[in-house]
Amino acid sequence: MAKKILVTGGTGFIGSHTTVELQNAGYDVVIIDNLSNSNIEVLDGIEKITGIRPAFVQGDCTDIATLRKLFDENPGIDGIINFAASKAVGESVEKPIMYYRNNLNILLNLLDLMPVYGVKGFVFSSSCTVYGEPDENPITESAPTKKATSPYGATKQMSEDIIADVIKSGSPIKAILLRYFNPIGAHPTAEIGELPNGVPQNLVPYLTQTAIGIRKELSVFGNDYDTPDGSCIRDFINIVDLAKAHVKALERMLENKSEEKLEVFNIGTGEGLSVLQLIDAFQRATGVEVPHKIVGRRAGDIEKIWADPKRANEVLGWKAQETIEDTMLSAWNWQKKLRERGIM
Ligand code: WQD
Repeated sequence: MAKKILVTGGTGFIGSHTTVELQNAGYDVVIIDNLSNSNIEVLDGIEKITGIRPAFVQGDCTDIATLRKLFDENPGIDGIINFAASKAVGESVEKPIMYYRNNLNILLNLLDLMPVYGVKGFVFSSSCTVYGEPDENPITESAPTKKATSPYGATKQMSEDIIADVIKSGSPIKAILLRYFNPIGAHPTAEIGELPNGVPQNLVPYLTQTAIGIRKELSVFGNDYDTPDGSCIRDFINIVDLAKAHVKALERMLENKSEEKLEVFNIGTGEGLSVLQLIDAFQRATGVEVPHKIVGRRAGDIEKIWADPKRANEVLGWKAQETIEDTMLSAWNWQKKLRERGIM
């Protein structure tokens, strides 16, 4: 009997790619999403890739009655991966109450209901944002977390603490926190990918929209940082590699591979790449020029951060595989597919 996994926010960028990898690994997937930042057509893309259309509930995880109904109508859920959250750093500064209410209520509802419905494993979508500006790189899981530079980052830190407190209180669940670095790219079939609403805040979707002519020019936010070429450094991780880390985390808990009830893993490549190096990688991989200019720094940006993924490699048994060139190519193919479909 296949194990059943609830993926909240499963029609989103990371949720949809994770659903594909869960189905590839033989799991049954139920998605709940309020479609506030994604489209129902993502289900078609998932089905085209795996041949399996995940069960879907359109609903808001901040409403506990909606979740109870989902658990009652989908008995036997063994694990949950929680992606559902508001996640725009800049927007969180303007709307802190919405971010705290949304992100924390979703988490509290899920933690409340898991023991009631016998759900064992919980994978939480955390972020390297919890580290703030690292004192040194590459950064390990034992590095100190610093005061978040945005309400978005604060909700990630608070969520990690809430999960730890709930487990400490004797809750029967197990949890794994995956601290992502910068997820980028798209599925190699170009059937699913990143589709931000409005003007993209993140680098790669803005870059591919510039490359295809939707945006006039990519602004590089600063080249006066203490880095080799002056632009910020990040650990850009391929979205399919990232999705596979979630399957590993679930297996670890559901197959009782660890006695630990709470574990944390940095999910990154271990390689730092600057903004200008990423632009160059895109141009080399695709042969497409990206008009770009240096402008002033963006408030709140971290100067440089990249992961030490040793624990994920050796303990979780997961390692990033995709090259940055192949990842850039996947992002470009996805952008061209959106154009073909007349979506943008
Ligand atoms: C990366 C670099 C920008 C846009 C955030 C969140 C993180 C996660 C990913 C949700 C920075 C530069 C960007 C542009 C640019 N969010 N940049 N021009 O800020 O590292 O991480 O998104 O899960 O938690 O913190 O990602 O892609 O916005 O920026 O020069 O048009 O690209 O200054 O140095 P970031 P990003």
